[in-house]
Amino acid sequence: MAQLRENWGTRFGFIMATAGSAVGLGNIWKFPYMAGEEGGGAFLMIYLGFILLFGLALMLAELLIGRTTQRNPVGAFRHLAGGAWPLVGMLGIVTAFVVLSYYIVVAGWTLAYIALSAEGASHSSDGAVVKQVFEDFVGDPVAPLACAALFMTLVAAVVAGGIGSGIERTSKLFMPVLFLLLLILVVRAVTLPGAGEGIAFYLKPDWSKVGADTFVGAIGQAFFSLSLGLGALITYGSYMRRHDNLAADAGMIAGLDTMVAVLAGLVILPAVFAAGVAPDQGAGLTFITLPTVFAQMPAGQLFATLFFVLLAIAALTSAVSLLEVVVTYLKDEHDMTRVRATVAAASITFLLGIPSSLSMGLWSGFTINGQDLLTFADQFATTVLMPGGAFFTAIFVGWVLGPRAVAALTLDGTHRVPGTGLWLFLLRFVCPLGILWIALSGLGVV
Ligand code: TRP
Repeated sequence: MAQLRENWGTRFGFIMATAGSAVGLGNIWKFPYMAGEEGGGAFLMIYLGFILLFGLALMLAELLIGRTTQRNPVGAFRHLAGGAWPLVGMLGIVTAFVVLSYYIVVAGWTLAYIALSAEGASHSSDGAVVKQVFEDFVGDPVAPLACAALFMTLVAAVVAGGIGSGIERTSKLFMPVLFLLLLILVVRAVTLPGAGEGIAFYLKPDWSKVGADTFVGAIGQAFFSLSLGLGALITYGSYMRRHDNLAADAGMIAGLDTMVAVLAGLVILPAVFAAGVAPDQGAGLTFITLPTVFAQMPAGQLFATLFFVLLAIAALTSAVSLLEVVVTYLKDEHDMTRVRATVAAASITFLLGIPSSLSMGLWSGFTINGQDLLTFADQFATTVLMPGGAFFTAIFVGWVLGPRAVAALTLDGTHRVPGTGLWLFLLRFVCPLGILWIALSGLGVV
């Protein structure tokens, strides 16, 4: 294919798009409730440690593979090493399908909750009422699927627009809006009467809650939040021009992602405490607990609506990056046009998502390991598929490429990048061993 590869227009655009991939449901929906359950400030410190120890090194590794090869994950591994390595890329494509299939289901709920909050249907301080609204909605066989289809269509429309006028333009518009909404919500939450207790609970480390599970949870969350382990960053990196300062970009993106997660906790936990609700409600916190919290604050209906707009925007730019992994692959390897690839991948993803959606209602009796299909798909992707992909990526860049990776990063020594020795050490030893340890403890072996 002699076609010229698309490119990010500006460095700012690339950073917004990649931060858009990283900042998603993981930051706003999952991070606060995990921190709430796993020791508050203690979880925060462990999480930050993992970002520094594993996240940054891997993020740089994936972006570099993409930038160097200008190819999709399968093509990139084939180009650099051949052999069985393209299978790691293939695993990434499959994982992107799996994650996107349930991601659009939860994202569809956020769309519905924009409407439900705006019209006041979920606006009640009675937890039982709000819970019923949630269960009635997700248990319905049709409405949540319609929302998932709508969300998938929005994502496909952005991806069909291409790298510059689709993904980059949308991210440059939406990410600043997201930051603004988040700041408004933080100010609202921390100035509520009684918020201080929530802030203290959030930021004060409680080491008594920390166990092996905390570490496993924190590292899985670090991978998921930074969009690692399935080639999303290889894909985004492949649309970069070569002169950009990759290490600084990776630091900036990881910093933005972490900042949003921490700020989301500063919205949710103070609000939850101010309303006198227990913080350890797990995954239901966002859709069941939060509406009761908003119902008790002045202008709560407005803030609830803003909150779900925030969540939908975050989910959109993340889902875009997942779909782009598949689209770039189909485009590069199977010579499809962008639009055809987008329509095909989005349709298949929607079909794959149907069981996840139905697992909240009609099919709730069908479980794997005692988990409904949506929870199982999430668990399997975040504890097996993504760490697996990250493991092989670390080995690949650390051992197979080794000095070649450093040469690629420094553009053959023409750019000074500090800490390349440490970076290789992390990829060679710390990342693979850390992931193995997590996998074994997840299986109950150590
Ligand atoms: N990082 C996103 C979140 O926090 C999810 C996500 C988007 C993702 N793209 C990804 C996770 C690629 C892994 C790989 O919600």
